[in-house]
Amino acid sequence: MEVIIQPTDETAAAFVATIVAHDLRANPHLVLGLATGKTMERVYRCLVRMHKEEKLDFSLCSTFNLDEYVGLSPSDPHSYRHYMDHHLFRHVNVDLRNTHLPNGLADDLEKECTRYEALIQRFGGIDLQLLGIGKAGHIGFNEPLSALRSRTRVKALTPTTLKQNAPSFGGEERVPRRAITMGVGTILESRRCLLLATGESKAEVIAKAVEGPITSMISATTLQLHPRCTVIVDESAAGQLKEKDYYRWIFANEPEWEEYR
Ligand code: GLP
Repeated sequence: MEVIIQPTDETAAAFVATIVAHDLRANPHLVLGLATGKTMERVYRCLVRMHKEEKLDFSLCSTFNLDEYVGLSPSDPHSYRHYMDHHLFRHVNVDLRNTHLPNGLADDLEKECTRYEALIQRFGGIDLQLLGIGKAGHIGFNEPLSALRSRTRVKALTPTTLKQNAPSFGGEERVPRRAITMGVGTILESRRCLLLATGESKAEVIAKAVEGPITSMISATTLQLHPRCTVIVDESAAGQLKEKDYYRWIFANEPEWEEYR
């Protein structure tokens, strides 16, 4: 795991977008894993700007989102399909046929989860997976006690998550109780992971995810097992990390980061 501390939420998001753009230019057929949430909105704004101003080309890439609520149709403004259309897809030249999210309306949800896993495999696996982090430490909707080897499946959302996502639904009672999410095992199979966290409200969970023991209670801690995971935080989200000087030293000295400094 590597930790990169950026001065602000804007520069942290721009940093993530720059890595995505770099990997996309290196491999136009990139299979990109996407995340939702407020934090990611800034990343998508940067990518849209790069598409418009720097001709960043999405035409050959494919995308797989981490999760989708059960029971919401793609046109529902609260669905993650709608989120993706609104924040990214409709502003860039991605081929919509190559954009994938689990179908939260499927009659047979179990079958839908198996289909989604198989589809990821058919596309050769995920090259670059973007991740946010919930306040309880979930990645995707892998709530506490998610098995370290779990695959795409239906998860019941915890009270913390319902509370966290309530504002966008206009009340906790309106948040769907379940979601389909890629499993921890699915996420760990991606070739590269980028986790972005910004703001003071994420400081405690980031310290646990990066410096705490691996536990299924905090699914983000399992990223410590990933061979190529970069955590990008702003100063506020880095607030409770103990080894900040070390992370800064690595970033300043590691040749891989030369073009990003
Ligand atoms: C939801 C998503 C997660 C995301 C989290 C954080 O729970 N399922 O994938 O990481 O929200 O959201 P925010 O960026 O709004 O804090």
